[in-house]
Amino acid sequence: TTTRPRISFLGCGYLGATYAICFAELGYEVIGYDVDAAKIDLFSSGTVPFHEPGLPELLKKNLESGRVRFTTDIQAVADFADVHFICVGTPQRKGEHGADLSYIEAAVTDLSKHLSRKVLIVGKSTVPVGTASWVQELVDRHAPEGLGAEVGWSPEFLQESNAMHDVLRPNRVVYASQSEWASGLLKDVHRGIMELAAVEDREVPVVETDLATAELVKVAANAFLSTKISFINAMADLCEVAGGDVTDLARAIGYDQRIGNKFLRAGIGFGGGCLPKDIRALSARAGELGVGESFRFLDEVDHLNSRRRTHTVRAVADLAGRASGPNGPDLSGLRIAYLGATFKPDTDDIRDSPALAIARKLRAARADVVVYDPEGLDNAHAFAPELSYVKTLAEAVDGADVVCAMVPWEEFRTLDPEALGQQVSQRRILDGMNAFDPEQWTAHGWSYKGIGR
Ligand code: UDX
Repeated sequence: TTTRPRISFLGCGYLGATYAICFAELGYEVIGYDVDAAKIDLFSSGTVPFHEPGLPELLKKNLESGRVRFTTDIQAVADFADVHFICVGTPQRKGEHGADLSYIEAAVTDLSKHLSRKVLIVGKSTVPVGTASWVQELVDRHAPEGLGAEVGWSPEFLQESNAMHDVLRPNRVVYASQSEWASGLLKDVHRGIMELAAVEDREVPVVETDLATAELVKVAANAFLSTKISFINAMADLCEVAGGDVTDLARAIGYDQRIGNKFLRAGIGFGGGCLPKDIRALSARAGELGVGESFRFLDEVDHLNSRRRTHTVRAVADLAGRASGPNGPDLSGLRIAYLGATFKPDTDDIRDSPALAIARKLRAARADVVVYDPEGLDNAHAFAPELSYVKTLAEAVDGADVVCAMVPWEEFRTLDPEALGQQVSQRRILDGMNAFDPEQWTAHGWSYKGIGR
């Protein structure tokens, strides 16, 4: 074993690209691979094709250092690296809840065929439990005979908008291997993270475990986080009918360290490229393995989350004094300043975005929805062309009958009720972020509606 193995990342999406760039920063020689030549050209010329704070600078630095490069040439990847990380997407299958593993199959098969020495292939993509042993079979079937390439697993926990930090300074490292050799190699792969932690006087706990557990850790964490959010949203419903305030409630239970104060923000529900699809895939996989009943609660977590969307449309109608019929409210003639389209702040990602889904529902109820988002406009426009989009907050709020503040971007959280009041036609605000102080807004003549307060 070398102390600094050479590493490849197969799949230069959000995950693979961030890992490749960060591992170069940690001192490893790295290659990023993707079948998409346009994407590879962008990375090679120093451009990150998605919004992630700090990543473009780190890419440029490490292209200059020569420690990272990008390619579409799988032979070059097979020749170069000692350890290959599989970082391709595992989307939800069309019309089903299970995960689509075809990108994993393609990447592993292609790599295996081009190998000429014993390497370690480590899964990082989020997968149904049991995938690792299937990947090992693929490798055995397609790699040259007698090579002995091994499969390991190491889940990732990176959060968009905080991705660099999560890779360089993770709060834990989890990996699984099938031999002493592979275990040693995985230790070498993570040495850079441990050294950085030592310099900064931190500790990064390591959980070394079996393949199945390593696969499960990721989905278990995301299922737990989803459950926390749906739990607090259920409490929000109760607060609304009982006259409570869910933000105080969340603060109060959050001081109990067994509960913790994170992921207890009630609102319009969770979205993004991970939580919704991961809980569906977990529940589907549990069903396949005969323990579906134990995961019914997770289907309910999902349903509860979807119901936030109709609930929020009703909240807007209430705020505007529009009655709801059996098919929902009629919002025709209502001019809505709609603030936020991404699934959360500091990203341009609109995958499964609750804000965008609710905007579409409001439009379907015939409201005139004018959307502004600091980074997500292009993606939102491509996905939901029926909405109107404007490039500034001022244009969005000009003459509005209702302001819907949906995604807690800094630009929205710091809105001034008086200044905003001068621009709108009616002082009505739906605080889908639960970020404002209701008293402050009502003091400036606003009708304020939060979620669960
Ligand atoms: C998530 C996990 O956090 C991460 O560990 C995993 O690797 C990938 O999936 P991400 O999808 O980037 O990361 O988003 P996250 O920050 O977790 O937010 C998910 C959603 O939950 C967002 O829509 C967010 O607005 C929502 N959310 C989060 C709430 O509604 N309330 C909260 O209290 C926290």
